[in-house]
Amino acid sequence: MSEFITLAEIDAAKDAIQAQIKIQPEIGLILGSGLGDFADTIEDATIISTEEIPNWPISTVKGHKGRLVIGKLEGKPVIVLQGRTHYYEGHSMSHIGLPIRVMQRLGVDTLILTNAAGGINPAFSPGDLMILTDHIALVGMVGPNPLRGPNLDEFGPRFPDMSRVYDRELIQLAKQISDEKNLHCQEGVYICLVGPSFETPADIRFLRGVGADAVGMSTVPEAIVARHGGLRVLGISSITNQVDPDGTNVASHEEVLEAGKLIVPKLTALIKAILPKL
Ligand code: HPA
Repeated sequence: MSEFITLAEIDAAKDAIQAQIKIQPEIGLILGSGLGDFADTIEDATIISTEEIPNWPISTVKGHKGRLVIGKLEGKPVIVLQGRTHYYEGHSMSHIGLPIRVMQRLGVDTLILTNAAGGINPAFSPGDLMILTDHIALVGMVGPNPLRGPNLDEFGPRFPDMSRVYDRELIQLAKQISDEKNLHCQEGVYICLVGPSFETPADIRFLRGVGADAVGMSTVPEAIVARHGGLRVLGISSITNQVDPDGTNVASHEEVLEAGKLIVPKLTALIKAILPKL
């Protein structure tokens, strides 16, 4: 497979999914590490293993099941990806964007991206949710951008605007629901690093200095691809651990998965209340 995905490859994946589903999805959800249990509540579900889908980048990470669940949630037709792929797994940046392109070709116009993240902002605690107000695309700035390569004109322009990646109305809606349900969601800027190594204390001081509130290894490439295609995007981080500039807290994937599971009820409450209003 070449480094850059083509429309034909996107549509081959779309056709394989289309042949199996009963419900045409309008809302896409991507679940972060440890957050996969969320998909258990979907009704009339068709479950497709991503290994069966042509051209799909396969997830190799523990805590990521690698399947699509298509069905209804709060009466809304959804497609949920349990098990995203990350750049550090070895896929090209272009392939990281394939699930988003495929969702769009299936009819999705709104995308909810979730992730597990380390809290940089000292006001955050593990167990908090953070609504993304913006992101810092450090990966795309100094390394590969998911839109590098031939532009897919069917989706968007060569030089897409990124001044409003996370939809203002969706942010407002999420904040309002957080207040109504006493979920105490934080707000902030997410920064994406390649990983898989966690940050050094010096990295953390740098990230704090450039204005990041939470750090992770996903979401930003997907959000860029989604905005290129004109999708409305909402981003929600689950703060699974606190990162600190003096190296007192040691991050581990097990800790991220465990904390992720504990946050699922809160995340589920937030998303379930958002869906009927979309
Ligand atoms: N750093 C990077 N990615 C992460 C972290 C972290 O501390 N926690 C969850 N994802």
